Amino acid sequence: MSKDTKHRLSRRDFIKALTTLVAGTIGALLGVPVIGYLLAPALRKEVDTSTISLGTVEKYPVGLPTYFGFTYTKVNGWERTAIVIGMYVLRKEDGSVRVFSDICTHLSCLVTWHPDIQEYVSPCHDGHFDREGFVTKGPPPRPLDEFETKIEDGNLYVINPPYRRSN
Ligand code: FES
Repeated sequence: MSKDTKHRLSRRDFIKALTTLVAGTIGALLGVPVIGYLLAPALRKEVDTSTISLGTVEKYPVGLPTYFGFTYTKVNGWERTAIVIGMYVLRKEDGSVRVFSDICTHLSCLVTWHPDIQEYVSPCHDGHFDREGFVTKGPPPRPLDEFETKIEDGNLYVINPPYRRSN
């Protein structure tokens, strides 16, 4: 056997090598996105909800509780759940701002502000709260929870979660 024929690739070996190369390329092209999809939930960063921006203080009318909803998506593996943090902003005549949770302190139904009676009303068991979140009627055992607030450069922020008030 001459030197030339010793290093020549047979047709069979060439087809084997080509098939391996094509299969490997297709495998890599399909495999990388699949691996990315499988690992993505573990690598995704949680949304930081410890401080929520409510925009400029000026946009909230004085004396009128105004609803603000903050929505974010909670990711648990491949399960995605939309979470809404609801609150009422009360900008007072003296310039201070109070922000109340919209979750009733009885059994967690969502309260809404009723301007006609000047109260928050919980629809489940007819619980009522006044403008400052104190119970005026019904079974709620304590006032609406309240967010700690801060104002920076004319923008209002709340610290989440709201704290529990006593009577
Ligand atoms: S849940 Fe609000 S009164 Fe019962």
